[in-house]
Amino acid sequence: MRKKVILITGAVGEIGQALIQSLAESDANDLLTLDLQPLPADLQHLSTHIQGDILDKNLLTRLVTEYEFDTVFHLAALLSARGEFAPELAHRVNVEGTLGLLQLAAEQSQRRGDPVRFIFPSSIAVYGLPDLETKARDYFVREWDWNHPTTMYGCNKLYCEQLGAYYSRHYQQLAAASPVMLDFRSIRFPGLISAFTTPTGGTSDYGPEMLHAAAQDNPYACFVREDSVIPFMAMPDAVMALLKLAQAPRERLTRTVYNITSFSLTAAEIRDLVAQAFPNAIISFEADGKRQRIIDSWPAGLIDKAAHRDWGWEPAYGAERAFNEYLIPNIMKRYRDV
Ligand code: SER
Repeated sequence: MRKKVILITGAVGEIGQALIQSLAESDANDLLTLDLQPLPADLQHLSTHIQGDILDKNLLTRLVTEYEFDTVFHLAALLSARGEFAPELAHRVNVEGTLGLLQLAAEQSQRRGDPVRFIFPSSIAVYGLPDLETKARDYFVREWDWNHPTTMYGCNKLYCEQLGAYYSRHYQQLAAASPVMLDFRSIRFPGLISAFTTPTGGTSDYGPEMLHAAAQDNPYACFVREDSVIPFMAMPDAVMALLKLAQAPRERLTRTVYNITSFSLTAAEIRDLVAQAFPNAIISFEADGKRQRIIDSWPAGLIDKAAHRDWGWEPAYGAERAFNEYLIPNIMKRYRDV
């Protein structure tokens, strides 16, 4: 008998670490985690961890013989800034990696006659607004607006959303028997901010970096202009959303891809919230034209009505609460032991 598990790829990333903790607290199936890196020591007892590459076909084949994946949280990806330094590598990891896992989940859905739930984090990077005038005018965007990404990562995410919809609706559509399809569900996240981890290789990293630098008494030069605005979300809400979408009754879902958001802030507003908590923070603004262009192409806000309506999405943290009740107290504990 193969063991029924929840598979988390990219488990050592920011979302992965937070998700492992939440899933381990629930009475969900056992966790199987996969990442190029080892799990941090404090998470090791919570899952069976495989240190390996999602592009390693032999490894995936071996895992399928041992485990039945009930739900897959496919988090492994190269983020937007890193992807611009290595676009082809980003494509391999973000697209070919996703394709391999979709195929594996599709085959498993057929074999067991029950759809594998495939949960996929997408991103505001799938949007590409042409200029700041349009960004100010179309402040809040719907899922189907401005799907013209300017980064390899954004292209990859947009395409993988489509691939997921294909595998869950049309896979092998001309084959004789109609197969049981997988159940693909995706969330477009805004920039995420965690109190416990810092991101690497993203373009929205200036938000969390400003905060974590101030808490450690390090000066920080923000790489975008003060008026740069994109939506953000506290990590607990991101994890809650993944779990909520994964648990939603399938018949309630009218889309495969959902926007979600919590609050939109300018870089100056983030600086002000950080400075309230850390009055000695030294934060300057030294816009880097290239990363600035990417942030300027991302929307200022998202319309997440469909997520509210279909699966009851509701963020617990607005900006003030995210900073005052989650980020600042936990960061104080982490770096200052208070
Ligand atoms: N936070 C991500 C990035 O900046 C976007 O999904 O790449």
